Amino acid sequence: MTKSYEELMGALGRAIFFRPERRRVRDLLSRDAQPQLLVDGKEFPLFDLSMNGVSLISRDGNHLWPIGTEFDLTLLLYNKEVYKGRARVARVEPGPKKGSRIGFGLTNGFLDLPEILRQDEEGRLENQLKFGPEYWRARIPKGFQEATSRAVHFLHFYRQTLDRHEARYKAPGGGGTDAIAALEQRALDALREPWREIERVASRAALECLNDREVLVAAKEYTETLVTPVVLDCPLVHRAYTKPLGYSGDYQVMLYYYNNALEGDSVFARVFHKFAVEHPLSAGVRTRKDFVIELIEREHRRYLALQESDPVFRVASLGCGPAREVSDFIERQKGWPGQVVFTLIDQEDEALSIAYHQSQRQIQVTGANAAIQCLNLSFIQVLRDPSLVPIEHPQHFIFATGLFDYLRESTARVLTRALYEQLAPGGLLTMGNAAGPNEHFWPPEFMLDWTMLYRTREEMLRLGELLPDTAELDVAVEPGKAYYFLIVRKH
Ligand SMILES: C[S@@+](CC[C@H](N)C(=O)[O-])C[C@H]1O[C@@H](n2cnc3c(N)ncnc32)[C@H](O)[C@@H]1O
Repeated sequence: MTKSYEELMGALGRAIFFRPERRRVRDLLSRDAQPQLLVDGKEFPLFDLSMNGVSLISRDGNHLWPIGTEFDLTLLLYNKEVYKGRARVARVEPGPKKGSRIGFGLTNGFLDLPEILRQDEEGRLENQLKFGPEYWRARIPKGFQEATSRAVHFLHFYRQTLDRHEARYKAPGGGGTDAIAALEQRALDALREPWREIERVASRAALECLNDREVLVAAKEYTETLVTPVVLDCPLVHRAYTKPLGYSGDYQVMLYYYNNALEGDSVFARVFHKFAVEHPLSAGVRTRKDFVIELIEREHRRYLALQESDPVFRVASLGCGPAREVSDFIERQKGWPGQVVFTLIDQEDEALSIAYHQSQRQIQVTGANAAIQCLNLSFIQVLRDPSLVPIEHPQHFIFATGLFDYLRESTARVLTRALYEQLAPGGLLTMGNAAGPNEHFWPPEFMLDWTMLYRTREEMLRLGELLPDTAELDVAVEPGKAYYFLIVRKH
């Protein structure tokens, strides 16, 4: 099950004490499980669970939940009891949609999560055998079915065509590597626009599915059954859909975007992989990277103009991934007066390893006076206890790309304020977020089960609502027009 970015804890979160991991219910259990949590017989929405506790959402007022009070707790999946026992209120925190999140510690027994997952799988199988695909199809708008059918036909048609001709060129006397390269080019030129149009039509048809959760789930299941398997040989699709690190948009996916190359084991796989890395949100990753580099360059010039005696320009990236902005900045600028210190933060140590290696390599090649500090941290730790974060100096430029698109507005606002506090006076904070509404969300959401929060210009501005009045806010769009940037100057 996919993890949300608010659950990724980084090294510190895992270190020292063993604490049974808390998992968001929507990330842990299947869409069919329909968990029911009863507290003294009354049902509440379940928010998360771990082996020794659960939390629920309550909108009935906090006075009902005095800390330390014990209740009877029952958890059902598929209408069957998976836990029954006593639990004590351990914490009361603000929850989504003006509710409260009430955390319970179990006082007897435990939640056998592997067994619960097994029961979930069994329940799913039972449902699938009983209701079959018709259950799903009947819920899906006709327009969406037509758009999906067009996509599936297109993909199968060209998989057959390209496989056949690839085999012909590979056969003795068939033309070999050159003929295959020419086939790829011809296919790219001929199929790019028709495939893009299919994606646009499907995105428009998908709008109708967004208002009803049942319909959305049905449409996603339908797409993942029919469309995704046809393109699973494309390396980007495979990585993004299977999520081997447990979450969407890991560093390898980003590397595919930055490489923007023909990758894969067949002509079909290479051509459709290339279309995936040319998708507006993928191409936008490259243009937003250049946009950020230009901002770093501009802010650096502005800082140098202050003529400090020993200039040290400090840049931090949160959720840095491979930090291509940093290695490209060093490659482009090569040298500068004084020093530039980059602080790169990511919960994924494999991403930091790549970021460190690429940046150090550019430092070595150019001889630039730069230092790279990598922090294997989750922003959740930054929010909970800023003193844990060894950022000793205020930063002149802080940025986050590919991170806020996953954060609920309440978390995103708090994080914006926390980052602003790390800025030096006159410094600049910016975060990117996929722009909405758009005509290209069908491939990520439906084919890849990759959910992002697409934000409008107004929603971007709202992320700055906890900032002091003195902060200067602006929203810009990067040249690819796929991502908005909230830009905040500290005064
Ligand atoms: C979509 S990638 C973007 C990477 C990079 N900023 C870029 O644009 O190329 C998201 C990155 O955020 C990191 N990330 C996700 N949740 C995080 C968290 N809670 N704290 C810190 N980093 C996180 C992931 O490990 C991943 O490297």
